Amino acid sequence: MILESLQLIQFKNHSNTQLVFSPGVNCLLGKNGSGKTNVLDGIHYLCLTKSALHGSDALQVQHGKDFFSLKGNFRVQASPLEVRCSVEMGKKKQVFQNGKCIEKVSDHVGHIPIVLIAPDDTELIKGGSEGRRKFFDGLLSQLDRNYLEQLIRYHHFLKQRNALLKQFGETGRRDLTLLDTYDEELIRLSVLLANRRAALLSDIGPLIQEHYLSLSSGKEKVEVIYQTEALQPDFSANFLLLRQKDLATKTSNAGIHKDDIDLRIDSYPLRKVGSQGQQKSFLIALKLAQFHYFEKAKGEKPLLLLDDIFDKLDDERIAKLLEMVAKGNFGQLFLTDARPERSREFLKSLGKEVNYFTLHDGQVLA
Ligand SMILES: Nc1ncnc2c1ncn2[C@@H]1O[C@H](COP(=O)(O)OP(=O)(O)O)[C@@H](O)[C@H]1O
Ligand SMILES: [Mg+2]
Repeated sequence: MILESLQLIQFKNHSNTQLVFSPGVNCLLGKNGSGKTNVLDGIHYLCLTKSALHGSDALQVQHGKDFFSLKGNFRVQASPLEVRCSVEMGKKKQVFQNGKCIEKVSDHVGHIPIVLIAPDDTELIKGGSEGRRKFFDGLLSQLDRNYLEQLIRYHHFLKQRNALLKQFGETGRRDLTLLDTYDEELIRLSVLLANRRAALLSDIGPLIQEHYLSLSSGKEKVEVIYQTEALQPDFSANFLLLRQKDLATKTSNAGIHKDDIDLRIDSYPLRKVGSQGQQKSFLIALKLAQFHYFEKAKGEKPLLLLDDIFDKLDDERIAKLLEMVAKGNFGQLFLTDARPERSREFLKSLGKEVNYFTLHDGQVLA
């Protein structure tokens, strides 16, 4: 998987930026706020049709403008693939592959696997369960179109059901036949999706442990434990039993939108007992496990984006990561750093050619 060139038009602070990348290591330099992370986010957008920064499309459009457009020329299994995403406010977003408009945007997801490591983004570890569900759902969606479609369908029905519960509250009239239909579909999809989540987590657990040990000098046992009601034998009965509560609270209290994924270190919650270093190692191990899981499933190395790693990781972890890069464990690499001397020093140890780009105010300096 290679990104040969990228164009960002009216995407955040990039008015019109064009970059031609090396198939090896690409390092984006520039002061804070110059637009380095925005370039990585543009790549993320082209691969997954959304920003990595949890922002809606409206936040990606350059202030004062009403559209943005991104274009990337990729090589997938040695074949050229041009991807263009064009987003105009108030209109449906459009994604083109080799000039052809993709009917369903979700059909594009998974064509170009990508892994982004932003060590500062500890939301996955410290935040609520939604962030973790989103991460593992995103992982599965890149691998399995069926999963993504079922998940979209699940959220659609959930939204409908919640709206219906509210409507019952407002009108005092209850159309239980319609509620029955939603329940049946949500129960069916919960079981399907939960089985996929469970299979993924049991496959990826050992990979996370392996990467954790190779990144840190510790010997801790790390685990990802899936918490779901959907695989209990009485799930369907419990779903229906909760209906009274649903009617009272006007929300749906059962289903896979209530799942969590516990991250544990030596059997304790990572969020509570893990040191900052242990949490970062866990986060990176999780992403590296994702990388190798994708590689195995797709037979090709994903793009790897490393945002601010020199700033946010200690020397030992940086050295371990770069050692993996030098060994050829990764394919094309994109890094960002605000301090040119520091990154040149670190990257020298790779013994590989590195392409440097310097950004200033959303422009590439020649
Ligand atoms: N929608 C937008 N329109 C214009 N500028 C934006 C928009 N969103 C973010 N920015 C600007 O982008 C800059 C941050 O860019 P970023 O890529 O995060 O910088 P860094 O080089 O530090 O990684 C900030 O100056 C911010 O104001
Ligand atoms: Mg940044």
